[in-house]
Amino acid sequence: MNVPQHISIIMDGNGRWAKQRGLDRVQGHIEGVKSVRAVTEKCVELGVKYLSLYAFSEENWNRPTEEVGALMSLLAKCMIQEYDTLMDNGVRFRVLGNRSRLSPDLDEAITNLEKATENNPNTTMLIMLSYSGKWDILQAAKKLAGRKPEEITMEAIDDALVTAGIPDPELLIRTSGEQRISNYMLWQTAYTEFVFTDTLWPDFRKDSLMAAIEEYSRRDRRFGKVK
Ligand code: IPE
Ligand code: IPE
Ligand code: MG
Repeated sequence: MNVPQHISIIMDGNGRWAKQRGLDRVQGHIEGVKSVRAVTEKCVELGVKYLSLYAFSEENWNRPTEEVGALMSLLAKCMIQEYDTLMDNGVRFRVLGNRSRLSPDLDEAITNLEKATENNPNTTMLIMLSYSGKWDILQAAKKLAGRKPEEITMEAIDDALVTAGIPDPELLIRTSGEQRISNYMLWQTAYTEFVFTDTLWPDFRKDSLMAAIEEYSRRDRRFGKVK
């Protein structure tokens, strides 16, 4: 089996999972945390270097205030609750996105966890929070503005994105049956293999990840060339 060094996931379907059970949408997000834990542990086992998770998009700020608030509180809670699991598994934690929109308290808690886990040698977990692909390209363009045209290279753009230094994902999984990119990593997924599954995120566990990696292993990646 060909295991990618960077796996990315659009974790979708928490709301529908809850609705199917007559629960509040937030219960779906809470259950989704268990999937994050399971998938992270599996990535550590498999030696995956990077696991990026789309946790909250820039567009998600437009959800009802109560849901946004509940999601932000859940995140803050998880960062305390999951500390031991991250350390036990040697997982490095990072958050990438438009951090200026986060509350100062949450931002500080994130920075502290990033520092506490920065020397962990196994999988790096990248939580894409308040992230959007177009925002990422825009902030990169602003960083590059004023440079000489010949200095604006593909590598310079790579290095100006929030994912600087991180290889592009070889595999992107989206759960819940939706088949769209929803303003996720637009630049970084230029040659990524996409796997779509009907499984809702709270039901996506270790075996679902293995099935997605197996599907990826069967793909023939040509990068425009003739094989
Ligand atoms: C994904 O689940 C989590 C976030 C976007 C924060 P949703 O909340 O989008 O769940 P559905 O798509 O409504 O079922
Ligand atoms: C994409 O899911 C964002 C995350 C999973 C965090 P959405 O549920 O927000 O996407 P749309 O609205 O269905 O495109
Ligand atoms: Mg959704």
